[in-house]
Amino acid sequence: MTSPQGFLGFWETTGSAKTFTHPLDPALLDAWVPRSARVLDYGCGYGRLTAELAGLGYGEVCGVDVSAALIARGRREHPELALMRCPGFPLPFGDGSFDAALLFAVLTCVPGDADQTAIARELGRLVRPGGVVYLSDVPLQGDALNRERYARFAERYGTYGVFETPDGGVFRHHPPQRLRGLLREAGFSVRKERTGVVGTLDGRTAERLQIIALREPVAAGPEPPPGPASG
Ligand SMILES: C[S@@+](CC[C@H](N)C(=O)[O-])C[C@H]1O[C@@H](n2cnc3c(N)ncnc32)[C@H](O)[C@@H]1O
Repeated sequence: MTSPQGFLGFWETTGSAKTFTHPLDPALLDAWVPRSARVLDYGCGYGRLTAELAGLGYGEVCGVDVSAALIARGRREHPELALMRCPGFPLPFGDGSFDAALLFAVLTCVPGDADQTAIARELGRLVRPGGVVYLSDVPLQGDALNRERYARFAERYGTYGVFETPDGGVFRHHPPQRLRGLLREAGFSVRKERTGVVGTLDGRTAERLQIIALREPVAAGPEPPPGPASG
């Protein structure tokens, strides 16, 4: 993970006491992820959605997060859950170990292109062909407050959509095509999208985008050359 510790430091301190807010859409989950699925909750925080999945009857769920403080909180709040701190890649799971992965409100906390790409690629490795990634994140907002802070921080971060919050967080809102492109580049094809409104960490509301994408089969290599003629 190449993020400067400054970004991750927030999630060990102030950010670890926040209440996270992106809701699962149970109907969407139901339609794409069977109860028998092995599900990875990447960037699980304190296990909010990992616990919700378990409550919905998903028997094999596992949450991982970069933040030691959030995982410690998750273990206190949900001692029955499999929550693991994983500070870097590769995660300690084999290729195709999961039938589905959640990526909820994580990319909005990852300002850098390279770190976002690394996360999408790691999910592309971990979700088996035919499996699903269910993403929920925040696209670029059109209101004056957001447009002002995107413009104010664009030069510092080199990306329109990245901004700082007064409590020390650094966040990113994305053009929707960027989220689709990250998934496509990691081997997923977008199958379903839903928009809606979500509460934010600072008590406002924002438009959110949810995407269901399917892991494509790994492309077959070139045909092997014909073997020596027999007879
Ligand atoms: C807003 S919380 C969402 C947590 C959880 N997915 C939920 O919806 O309840 C964002 C999570 O992303 C994690 N995170 C922050 N920076 C990250 C990074 N560079 N790479 C991976 N995860 C990161 C944080 O530790 C935090 O748990």
